[in-house]
Amino acid sequence: MTKRLLVIGAKGMLGKDLMDVLRFPFPADEGWEILGWDIDEIDIQEEESTVRKIERIQPEIVINAAAYTDVDGCESNEEKAFTVNAEGMKHVALGSRTCGAKVVYLSTDYVFDGQKKEPYSEEDPPHPLSVYGRSKWKGEQYVQELLKDGLIIRSQWLYGRHGKNFVNAILRQAKEKKVLSIVDDQVGSPTYTVDLANALSHLARRRAQGIFHVANSDSCTWFTFGQAILKLSGRTEVKVVPISSKELGRPAARPPYSVLSTQKLARETGLTLRPWSDALRDYIQSLVAVDPVGKTSAL
Ligand SMILES: NC(=O)c1ccc[n+]([C@@H]2O[C@H](COP(=O)([O-])OP(=O)(O)OC[C@H]3O[C@@H](n4cnc5c(N)ncnc54)[C@H](OP(=O)(O)O)[C@@H]3O)[C@@H](O)[C@H]2O)c1
Repeated sequence: MTKRLLVIGAKGMLGKDLMDVLRFPFPADEGWEILGWDIDEIDIQEEESTVRKIERIQPEIVINAAAYTDVDGCESNEEKAFTVNAEGMKHVALGSRTCGAKVVYLSTDYVFDGQKKEPYSEEDPPHPLSVYGRSKWKGEQYVQELLKDGLIIRSQWLYGRHGKNFVNAILRQAKEKKVLSIVDDQVGSPTYTVDLANALSHLARRRAQGIFHVANSDSCTWFTFGQAILKLSGRTEVKVVPISSKELGRPAARPPYSVLSTQKLARETGLTLRPWSDALRDYIQSLVAVDPVGKTSAL
């Protein structure tokens, strides 16, 4: 009998890597069919159609990676942030609940205020600073209220082949500018979407529930991350200047320190993601492999 796994947000940065990775732990020869939907197939803002579409395919597992992820945009569009990130999650949960489907929700380090001086555990109380963070926390609350065995995966500072992200932005700017100013007062763990997708698949496969923090190991500031990107891509002629978040003046406040402790993941599954610098090296090498002269890709 066919068992369906549905990814919502399948055309997003993480969603595309998930679609590549999930077929290994959920193979067709064990009866798994992996479906990927995005805004063209389902608009999770609409309750009735979201519930109906999920019920129609009777999935075993639903991964909700769809979100309004423009953190600064959320500040001026609070209604959309909550409709997509919180109410959207509620609608997905309602549709999944009636089929008894396992739900996985992607959440963020931005649920924390960044006042801690050591990595945040799953038990630390959220206190988001931004509209985006508040909307994602509300989404988490719906998962916890509506589902017995929902899985919430918090991750951070994502980059990968298929979306807008810091690594690609730095590589693009390095082609145009001699000096880059990068924020040096926020600390986190850059996380490669392929590594997150693999860990998520593992957690979904073993039917984990509750909250799990998943990120590449070690931490850095955006400034250090930027330096590493330039070094690994051979752009050492570009100078980087550290600046403060205040100088950058973004609309949304970010936590100054939002490293996620992944001890629970290690304890309960034996998984530890590799250091961010190793993952970044692989990512940059993968860009070179597809585009050795840097004509079309970010490199
Ligand atoms: N990026 C990060 O650094 C980061 C960090 C921590 C957690 N997360 C979480 O991880 C998840 C994946 O992030 P990502 O960076 O891969 O996001 P992304 O690239 O922005 O992908 C999200 C996808 O969801 C789609 N979408 C938006 N509104 C929708 C709706 N109403 N109905 C259905 N689909 C909709 C988007 O379509 P459009 O592009 O057409 O809008 C896009 O394809 C999100 O839940 C995010 O909150 C991200």
